[in-house]
Amino acid sequence: MCQSTRLQVFLPSEDATDSLGRLLAGHLVPGDTLLLTGPIGAGKSHLSRAFIRARLNRMEDVPSPTFTLVQTYEDAAGDIWHADLYRLSHPDEVLELGLEDAMSTAICLIEWPDRLGRHLPQSAIHLTLTPQAQGRLAEFVFQGRPALKKALHDPAF
Ligand SMILES: Nc1ncnc2c1ncn2[C@@H]1O[C@H](COP(=O)(O)OP(=O)(O)O)[C@@H](O)[C@H]1O
Ligand SMILES: [Mg+2]
Repeated sequence: MCQSTRLQVFLPSEDATDSLGRLLAGHLVPGDTLLLTGPIGAGKSHLSRAFIRARLNRMEDVPSPTFTLVQTYEDAAGDIWHADLYRLSHPDEVLELGLEDAMSTAICLIEWPDRLGRHLPQSAIHLTLTPQAQGRLAEFVFQGRPALKKALHDPAF
């Protein structure tokens, strides 16, 4: 088992959150899952929107999946699933949604991953967003991924 990488990036403005979303969009491929933790208003959907627009290379309408739980998109490499599990009534609902299968075939961006219970994927990128001063603190935990680690060490924003 390789060692976990833990690193922090301060995002002084919503533009910086956009930049981080775009950076991540260049590093994830189908089969990768990004777990987005943080309080309401932390920027989980904001970052997901920038990520999805970068992957699709157009100004797609990306609504928060607050009520639908899942919104899906299709880019050249495959599907992107954007989930907001805040309203999930039971972890096994993840199976009904098809999200467990999607985690091995699509890029999954999952808000409120604590709701996944036993369905929490092993090798996901964990990103916690926390309001700090006027901006947000982004804290990553992931394994492997040397290119992502390098990009996040000295981000240009
Ligand atoms: N780095 C940042 N600094 C300040 N405000 C931010 C930053 N990133 C995002 N925001 C703002 O915070 C809010 C986040 O909302 P949203 O993404 O819906 O939150 P969540 O999905 O975490 O509940 C948006 O109004 C967005 O403009
Ligand atoms: Mg949200």
